[in-house]
Amino acid sequence: LPSGDKIPAVALDRPVQASGKPTGEKSEKPSRQRSRLVTGTSTALGSIGRNEKEVGQALRESGVPRDQVWLTSKLWNTFHAPEDVEHALDESLRNLDTEYLDLYLIHWPIAFKKGSNNELDPELTANPYPTWKKLEELVDKGKVRNIGVSNFNIPRLRNLTANPLKYKPAVNQVELNYWNPQPELLKWAKENNLLLEAYSPLGSNKQVKETLQVPEVQAIAKELNITPAQAIISWHVQRGTVVLPKSVTASRVIENFHVVRLPDDLFDKLEKAATSHPPQRVLNPSKNWNLPFDVFDDDG
Ligand code: A2P
Repeated sequence: LPSGDKIPAVALDRPVQASGKPTGEKSEKPSRQRSRLVTGTSTALGSIGRNEKEVGQALRESGVPRDQVWLTSKLWNTFHAPEDVEHALDESLRNLDTEYLDLYLIHWPIAFKKGSNNELDPELTANPYPTWKKLEELVDKGKVRNIGVSNFNIPRLRNLTANPLKYKPAVNQVELNYWNPQPELLKWAKENNLLLEAYSPLGSNKQVKETLQVPEVQAIAKELNITPAQAIISWHVQRGTVVLPKSVTASRVIENFHVVRLPDDLFDKLEKAATSHPPQRVLNPSKNWNLPFDVFDDDG
């Protein structure tokens, strides 16, 4: 598209299939996911979101056909034991009042012992393969169309993908924004055919205002006659990531659907600015969970 053309963000959000390849690329297996229309603010559900029932109700009442919506949910840390995975998914399906999910993610690379109050299960944390094998079974049963992970760093991705996987992780959903742009993770993901999904893409709540005032963001907005939020979202899309710009404000939801192609020089300036300061991550539950390591440390 010519620079400045407005296109809906959904058009750039490539559906992926369980093999990890974007739909449309050649693969040994036929594509499982044909839906072209996906929710621009894909719902990150799961135990933390606790909004599955509301989303299910909204979907039902909207009358929008199921195959026009992209539903993502996540497996919570207490359900990593292989015998618990399908029950957890079934509960999500019941809540959402649907027969399948488009994407099911391991919420954190951290397993808690069954029924415990955040007590670490060191074995399943060090080796998530038994949990992953169960997710693969859910794909084969047709209950989920794609499987992936969330909040995994490179060593943890390497650790998981070193196993003889039937389906590689299609997605890694992570905090990704101007303050925490994670260029190494993005590079690794591209090299390994893994799609990154950006949560808190405008920065987390307290950072949003500051993000929208970054001079490079303001310059893009001014030059292309778009809003600063659209400038940032466009930058994310141009980096090759899926963007989840959550908003409870209807006008912002509409605003956030529109992305433009940034001229290379403006994109490069913003990319340079984002990757030139020390990264600041906001979401890190390691201390709250009393982990004996930091979940995002490379040796964590
Ligand atoms: P709101 O939901 O009140 O509209 P996170 O992704 O970390 O959950 O936070 C997203 C934050 O960004 C929310 O506070 C949301 O506000 C805000 N937000 C989303 N879209 C826009 C936008 N286009 N302009 C300004 N703030 C936005």
